[in-house]
Amino acid sequence: MKQQSTTSLDTLFIKTYGCQMNEYDSSRMADLMKEAYGLRLVAKPEDADVILMNTCSIREKAEDKVYSELGRYRKIKDKRPDLIIGVGGCVGQQEGKRIQQRAPYVDAVFGPQTYHKLPEMIATIRRDRVRVSETDMPEIEKFDHLPTPKSNGFSGFVTIMEGCDKFCTFCVVPYTRGAEISRPVSDILHECQQLLDEGVIEISLLGQNVNGYRGEGEDGDEWDFTMLLYAVGKLEGLKRLRFSTSHPMEMTDELVVAFADIPVLMPYLHLPVQSGSDAMLKAMHRGHVRDDYFPMIDDLRKHCPDISLSSDFIVGFPGETDEDFEQTLDLVRRVDYDFAYCFKYSPRPGTPASKSDDNVAEDVKDVRLQQLLELTREQTRHHMQQQIGKTVQVLVERESRTDGDMQGRSSDYRIVHFEGQTRQIGQIMPVRITQAYGQSLRGELILA
Ligand code: 5AD
Ligand code: SF4
Repeated sequence: MKQQSTTSLDTLFIKTYGCQMNEYDSSRMADLMKEAYGLRLVAKPEDADVILMNTCSIREKAEDKVYSELGRYRKIKDKRPDLIIGVGGCVGQQEGKRIQQRAPYVDAVFGPQTYHKLPEMIATIRRDRVRVSETDMPEIEKFDHLPTPKSNGFSGFVTIMEGCDKFCTFCVVPYTRGAEISRPVSDILHECQQLLDEGVIEISLLGQNVNGYRGEGEDGDEWDFTMLLYAVGKLEGLKRLRFSTSHPMEMTDELVVAFADIPVLMPYLHLPVQSGSDAMLKAMHRGHVRDDYFPMIDDLRKHCPDISLSSDFIVGFPGETDEDFEQTLDLVRRVDYDFAYCFKYSPRPGTPASKSDDNVAEDVKDVRLQQLLELTREQTRHHMQQQIGKTVQVLVERESRTDGDMQGRSSDYRIVHFEGQTRQIGQIMPVRITQAYGQSLRGELILA
């Protein structure tokens, strides 16, 4: 006869890796488990009755990291066999049941599109004492099963689309998160409104490729991303609107103009280009050439002179020559980025590029990465220096971990530290910048 589990579930620990989408998904998982089982989040896995890993497989050694972390949880489970361990996210999707073959103490495996089934999975595990795995990709049903989002009180995230159809040859996302699916405009506006009703003043719209958004509009027609932005931008009480991530191939003139036109749309754009070489862009299947990118940047700066710009870069993609890499450095010099995120190429399972020879030697990748980091860090430092003397509006986020001061973000997404008080958290305060560091700023609060 099957045994009914008797131990109560009180506590939940979530370990999150990767992108903002995963951060968002983890907070939704926490909401879901709170609603279904009354679970409260704890800071240490040792204190938890349920441990969930929300994993990322975008770059190197993702699977190894998961298994080594699981080894740690296994020791906890040896002492407390009723502990429930779940592995979700992109590694969950990609590895599926293989995880439970290698780590049989894992009770649940699920993907980014199935975590809404967590309460049901946990119930099955407890009732039937079985292991479960849920890695199919139902259309967007997930969102119909999630509770109302909770925010930190002043800043919230709303997913507007899921997945990616671009199939860049290095990238695992189209396989782990599935095809692009856009949520209807009315659902998004409703979720934004709920956040605003809770007192949120900053909303970030999330998606793998937000400017590929094609959702059902309130008039029944298909709306593109810019139309959605205008609608969200009009919501009463919203002070700051952000979005991430965008693809250069789907930049439109309307989106450029929106930066000048929508007062709450913050002047910061992450527009990953990955490489400055046409040969590499083609091999990566990025769908544009380098000369398409410069006019976008010029237009953005023309319409919104204060905009800060960032990009992702991959060095050492298969076949990348010194000349190709030089083209990347050249593009970076021409654009002059405020921030950059630079990665060494690593083959990801199942991607087209992983079938090519990973033929740029590791030490060459290291040297290129170093060179690119030096250049982009210098640009960041320079842009930070230029902020000195300016008064910027800072949304105060929290106490700084390093110096006990307060910390927040300026409109153009720079981290700003200043001497303040915890009661200022969640407010937008004017701060005059007095010092610039490599990656952040320091300033003085301007009191009215
Ligand atoms: N190797 C290195 N970097 C990668 N990225 C995605 N896939 C890979 C890979 N296989 C980087 C890209 C992307 C960012 C999120 O991660 O630069 O924009
Ligand atoms: Fe990956 Fe390319 Fe899609 Fe971005 S656009 S998620 S890099 S496939």
